[in-house]
Amino acid sequence: MEFTLPQSGIFAQGTRAHYFLEFDLRPGVTATVALASFLRLQAPDVSAGGVNLVLAFGADAWREAAPSMAPASLAPFPGVQGPDGHRAPATQHDAWIWISGSTPDITWDHARAAVGAVSEVAVLANEQPGFLYHDGRDETGFIDGTANPPVRRAADVALVPLGTPGEAGSHVLAMRWVHDLDAFHRLSIHEQERVFGRTKLDSVELSHGEKPPDAHIARVELDVEGEELEIFRRSVPYGTIQESGLYFVAFSADPSRFQRMLARMFGLDGVRDRLTDFSTPASGAYYFAPSINALRALASPEQD
Ligand code: HEM
Repeated sequence: MEFTLPQSGIFAQGTRAHYFLEFDLRPGVTATVALASFLRLQAPDVSAGGVNLVLAFGADAWREAAPSMAPASLAPFPGVQGPDGHRAPATQHDAWIWISGSTPDITWDHARAAVGAVSEVAVLANEQPGFLYHDGRDETGFIDGTANPPVRRAADVALVPLGTPGEAGSHVLAMRWVHDLDAFHRLSIHEQERVFGRTKLDSVELSHGEKPPDAHIARVELDVEGEELEIFRRSVPYGTIQESGLYFVAFSADPSRFQRMLARMFGLDGVRDRLTDFSTPASGAYYFAPSINALRALASPEQD
């Protein structure tokens, strides 16, 4: 019996160093040819050495190369335009790679090797190193990930259900948020806690009465007909002293959850997430991280 396996890097824990790469396919290169080159990154000469590597592709490239393995809902990121001018821009590219490992030298080596390995078919459009900040905190000082589904449940949240096109693949939202830490830190701790809806030191959820309707977690908690619609977040902090923030990464069985959360964050229903007063997205894209089986089928079509 053959199992359908997701890319394990999506769930890998314990890595402190991260590197995100986005690519545009070179003009004139078909998606099929380009993806064949990306699939070589699975080979040990590039991906060995204690790193996790997650490969994902934009809707157009994946649908062109593997139409039968593309979920119907897969589409480029449309961006979000809030009613008061706050917005999340769409900066869609064709491919995305997430490299995570123990130290920045190792992830940098692998990022550099990956860019070289696909250079004939794709141009690097964006690169972003990221790091674990203290005990898994965002640079605001708040713990990020408290209400994330635990790994034992994460596959149900993150993977396209078996028996549907794209099975065991995962929809990815990647966004670079730029923080205004000076403005945030001018708030009292009490006010900062009201921005997120959790306490700062130990991430305890504020009570119903204390949590403002525009608190971040009040905006992104999706309850649809009594069922909580979750996503699996893998964001990491990044940056220099001059510009820093959160490289937001999340995986979902279904991209409409991302769109609904962002719509609520940007106030399309009348209440804007207060976090957007202190952080602004500079990029945003949707990708699809196919199952290992789908990647293998594409890498050696004759065996399919
Ligand atoms: C500047 C960008 C962001 C920062 C700094 C941030 C930070 C946080 C923090 C500190 C928490 C509370 C602890 C936790 O449960 O992890 C949280 C929760 C959460 N965030 Fe964000 N976040 C950001 C953007 C986003 C975006 C863009 C989405 C969705 C598209 C999102 C979805 C969620 C969800 C689903 C939760 C859990 C809510 C719950 O059920 O309690 N976040 N975030």
